[in-house]
Amino acid sequence: MKKVIFFEVQGGSDKGQDGHRKDTMPMVEALQQKGYPAEVVFFDVTQMDAIYDYVKHNAVAYVSRINPGNMVGEAQYFGMLRALCEDGIIGLPHPDAMTGYGAKDALVKLTDTSLVPSDTYAYYTMSEFFYQFPKALALNERVLKQNRGSTGEGIWRVQLMEPLPVGATEASLTTKVKCTEAKDNHVEYWKLGEFMLFCEQYIIGDGGMLVDMPFLPRIKEGEIRLLLLRDTPINVVHKKPAAAADAFSATLFSGAQYRYDPPILWEGLITDFLAQLPHVKDKLGGFDLPLLWTADFILRDAPDGSDDYVLGEMNCSCVGFTSELSLAPRVADEIIACITEKQQIKA
Ligand SMILES: Nc1ncnc2c1ncn2[C@@H]1O[C@H](COP(=O)(O)OP(=O)(O)O)[C@@H](O)[C@H]1O
Ligand SMILES: [Mg+2]
Repeated sequence: MKKVIFFEVQGGSDKGQDGHRKDTMPMVEALQQKGYPAEVVFFDVTQMDAIYDYVKHNAVAYVSRINPGNMVGEAQYFGMLRALCEDGIIGLPHPDAMTGYGAKDALVKLTDTSLVPSDTYAYYTMSEFFYQFPKALALNERVLKQNRGSTGEGIWRVQLMEPLPVGATEASLTTKVKCTEAKDNHVEYWKLGEFMLFCEQYIIGDGGMLVDMPFLPRIKEGEIRLLLLRDTPINVVHKKPAAAADAFSATLFSGAQYRYDPPILWEGLITDFLAQLPHVKDKLGGFDLPLLWTADFILRDAPDGSDDYVLGEMNCSCVGFTSELSLAPRVADEIIACITEKQQIKA
């Protein structure tokens, strides 16, 4: 019987004493107990040909447990996963699904849904950025998001320091702006054009981009993270930014408070999101939903006064459940379900 192979890398702060991510062996053992052989393979770009060959011949499916942002040989790793999927190995997830769901610009593909404000933009070049951003800022306060990392670094709230002249449809590059970074809620004052030049670092390079969306003041009430096992929400983390005046960040490092809620407390959000999920999947490339992934939401007033939930980002490259290891058998069941479904389609 072919195996389920979990890809990890050696080293890194996310590893336990056995050298694995803390939630990896519980999944491996749960699969074995259910009669499915499973093992961990450490990816090493210098051994890639041998690894590819081994997995191609021995695996029915792989589960990727590597944070691509922190690894050596990201492009090669993605290339190897793509080749394995083409060989018929079940990819959990497919490499293009990782970027389809996980990249920040997923948001701009969803502006036709109630999940994302229609004035949300993505910039891949400085000229697009200089063309659109001063106009967007003239209409409302903005949040600029770089694509890399997940620590609030390079996520900037941008506010005008003074009202624009009457009738102005864009902010001039000499306008003074207040910029607050989500990493630690620190504030910097800039001239708009100079700040935009500073942001070039986020646009250049592989996968570089900036997403520009309206600032949502109800972030004060917290960011709501759904942890999903394919299409089933299994827990909810409510992350409330620190109370300080400029604080808008939901990261732990910035002082936000975390609370774990049962999904039933967020029924409105969950019903609304699940109803839109088939459309979300189509818009993001039609890939199977990731095995384990997260979606983060911020509240906004709907036109009728009720609550809307705005999608802030999704993550699916290296989502774990270390804080709730008892979920391992359930995750193993879901892996088995993925395999069975694919085999039925093939048969
Ligand atoms: N549109 C927004 N309005 C208000 N706050 C936001 C908005 N987008 C992001 N934030 C805040 O910034 C934080 C970091 O942004 P996020 O998109 O989650 O980037 P990262 O990948 O660094 O986690 C969020 O956790 C949230 O607190
Ligand atoms: Mg985040």
